[in-house]
This record gives sequence, structure tokens and C-alpha cells, in this order.
Amino acid sequence: MKRNTLTLGLGLLAWLALGAAWADGGRFDLGGPVYRDECGACHVAYPPQLLPAASWRELMRTLDRHFGADAGLEPQQAAAILDGLVAQARRRPEAAPRGGPVLRITQTAWFRHEHDEVPARLWKGPAVKGAAHCAACHRRAEAGDYGERTLRLPR
Ligand code: HEC
Ligand code: HEC
Repeated sequence: MKRNTLTLGLGLLAWLALGAAWADGGRFDLGGPVYRDECGACHVAYPPQLLPAASWRELMRTLDRHFGADAGLEPQQAAAILDGLVAQARRRPEAAPRGGPVLRITQTAWFRHEHDEVPARLWKGPAVKGAAHCAACHRRAEAGDYGERTLRLPR
């Protein structure tokens, strides 16, 4: 009983935190083709709505040292992508555990809450290889679709 109330409360909080940008039926607008191509080359192009503007700014400022990869872009291209990201960014800022804006969607309180029922062994296992690989479970993540109908957990 208690747990249900808590879950409901947290769900509502998460929903409020995401504000009006929250996708209808788990489907997100990914923005223009440049973003989808350039930022979807190594992983799926993540929904702009899942991080606040300060996070996107910091990510775009440090692309040449991007989680151990060099994702550097021409300044003009980077600026155009950043504009698109900021226009749809989450409203509420969130800090990383060690300070500064959170740089991983998978580290946000919202994400951890939404995914708290996924068994830990799945995240680390060969079928998923880390939470950042959204498409391992969200089969249409590439198109920004995180809805229930296209969600399938690997074994
Ligand atoms: C050269 C390959 C490459 C390109 C291009 C690239 N990334 Fe990444 N990105 C990575 C790697 C590697 C990680 C870390 C993945 C992991 O931890 O499993 C990552 C992680 C991320 C994360 C954190 C995911 C999470 O929640 O853990 C975000 C956000 C992100 N990238 C945004 C972008 C954006 C925006 C662009 C386009 C400007 C971009 N990436 C282009 C390689 C790339
Ligand atoms: C190991 C499987 C798995 C991975 C990997 C995963 N998710 Fe999920 N995701 C889930 C599950 C399970 C749910 C909860 C569905 C529910 O309770 O209705 C969920 C829910 C969501 C929702 C809420 C959808 C809705 O209907 O409101 C979003 C958005 C989401 N995930 C985004 C992501 C993103 C972005 C990534 C990658 C950074 C990711 N997920 C990686 C399993 C996964």
C-alpha cells in the first residue's frame, strides 16, 4: 500500500519535472535531419526533451572529448544542433552527482525512477551493454519512439 502511494507520488513528480515537453505516448520529436545524422551515428539520437538546456550546452561544448570519443563538429553545425536541442530541452535543471549539469540521460533522477524495475543484470548483460543503448529495449528508439508498444526487454 505504502509503496504504491510512493510510486504514484514519484511518478507525478517525474511528470511535473518534465513539464509540457513530455512526449505523447512516449514518442518524441527528435528535431532536424542534421541532428539525427550527426548525433545518431554512434548511438541513437537521444530525445532533446530528456536533458535540460545547460546539459546540452555542456555536451556540445565538449564534443571533442565526448565520453572518451571524439564527436567534434564544425562550429556552425554544432551551433545549429544546439539551437534545436535547447528549443526542446527539459525545463528543470539537474546537476550531476559530482556537480555541473548532468551529462547523461541515464544519470537523471527521472531516468532512474522510470527504469527502476529493469533488473540490474540486464543493463550490464551482452544484450544491452549499458543503459545508453536505448534501442536494446526500445526497438524504435531511432525514431524517437519510447512508447509501450515498441518496448521489448531482451532475455
Ligand atoms: C563518435 C561517436 C559519437 C558521436 C558522433 C556522438 N556520440 Fe554521444 N556518445 C558516444 C559514446 C561512446 C557515449 C557513451 C556511451 C556509453 O556510455 O555507453 C556517448 C554518450 C552520449 C550521451 C549520454 C548517454 C547516457 O545517458 O548515458 C549523450 C547525451 C550524447 N552522447 C549526446 C550526443 C550528441 C548530442 C551528439 C551529437 C552532437 C553525440 N552524442 C554524438 C559517442 C558518440
Ligand atoms: C534494459 C531495457 C531498457 C533500456 C536499455 C532503456 N529503457 Fe527506457 N524503459 C524500459 C522500461 C522497462 C520502461 C518502463 C515502461 C513502463 O513502465 O511502462 C522504460 C521507460 C522509458 C520511458 C517512458 C516511456 C513512456 O511511455 O512514458 C522513456 C522515455 C525511456 N524509457 C527512455 C529511455 C532512453 C532515452 C533510454 C536510453 C538512454 C532507455 N530508455 C533505455 C527499458 C529500457
